[in-house]
Amino acid sequence: EKGGWSSFMAKEVSEEPEAVANTLRGRLSGGAVVIPELDGLDELFIGIDRIIVTACGTASYAGAVGKYVLERWAGVPVDVELAHEFRYRDPVIGANTLVVSISQSGETMDTLMAVKYARERGAKTLSICNTQGATIPRESDAIVYTHAGPEVAVASTKAFVAQITALQLLALHIGRVRGYLSAQESVTSVAELEALPAKIQRILDEEQPHVEQLGRWMADTRSVLFLGRNVGYPIALEGALKLKEISYIHAEGFAAGELKHGPIALIEPGQPVFVIVPSPRESALIHSKVISNIQEIRARGARVIVIAEEGDAAVLPYADEVLRIPVAGPMFEPVLAVVPLHIFAMALATAKGLDVDQPRNLAKSVTVE
Ligand code: F6R
Repeated sequence: EKGGWSSFMAKEVSEEPEAVANTLRGRLSGGAVVIPELDGLDELFIGIDRIIVTACGTASYAGAVGKYVLERWAGVPVDVELAHEFRYRDPVIGANTLVVSISQSGETMDTLMAVKYARERGAKTLSICNTQGATIPRESDAIVYTHAGPEVAVASTKAFVAQITALQLLALHIGRVRGYLSAQESVTSVAELEALPAKIQRILDEEQPHVEQLGRWMADTRSVLFLGRNVGYPIALEGALKLKEISYIHAEGFAAGELKHGPIALIEPGQPVFVIVPSPRESALIHSKVISNIQEIRARGARVIVIAEEGDAAVLPYADEVLRIPVAGPMFEPVLAVVPLHIFAMALATAKGLDVDQPRNLAKSVTVE
């Protein structure tokens, strides 16, 4: 079943371009997003005044990217909350709240309980799920399936990029239905989406050997930090989670702007730090702020591994290693920036001789609370 691959995880990372392409298939038409599963739900989308995205683990980081795209394109306020936290407090929800759950398996008990709870409280529920007919979609008012194909490795990879893709589709759809998103921005965004699979493939083809070499070099590392800003922040969290899960290394992701509020105290000579650099084209200001973060940590001896778009030369003087991702619109960068991080976690775990498909203490589907 693994084909020629050394692990399911290696196979599944190699399938990231297809996971995105298959999630888009049949849902883009003439510069617009068309989601047949959501036919007849326009009134629901027009009536909501709030969205709560709920999920666990990697799916919650896809949800955190979802907040940026939903607010930007659909104009609805969004909160993202871990399902087990959401369920056990007194969230303010009602008939005008849309609760969007995200789950690869569709069986995660924490997420299922959150969806049931939201329904009981009168909210509308929509699930983004990778498993046809699973429990969570059955308990939801609406479903948008990701079509990443079966994910066997415990660590989620191709499902993650498919989840972000589904959230982008959903945001563009809701934005048009609500009359918030311009037809022009829809057309531009659809073109960006269509270009993503080939861009992911290019990262796999061109950067994989370099990232694998980094993983091998860093096999004895005790701690790795990840910094990101804006949509790069959830990607930093995802990079750290993947490393903890499969290589048992202490890893933490931070919002780059938080550095001086505490985490910079962790920087000592030799500390490896991945920095996801946002494109300078969207906001020269945010880009320059991340560059100064890099200077700050470099001055304290950090070993800086930068993930930056092709052609961004500003990173060169301060980076020990540069991993390139193709140029994309700002909301489309996360799906690209995460690819080297998935490869890195896998390469490092492999270099340590670990079973990347079956990390200790973890199960693929967490069906208990
Ligand atoms: C991380 C990972 C977990 C899952 C989480 C939710 O690599 O696999 O964090 O993302 O347990 O699982 P699903 O998406 O099945 O609800």
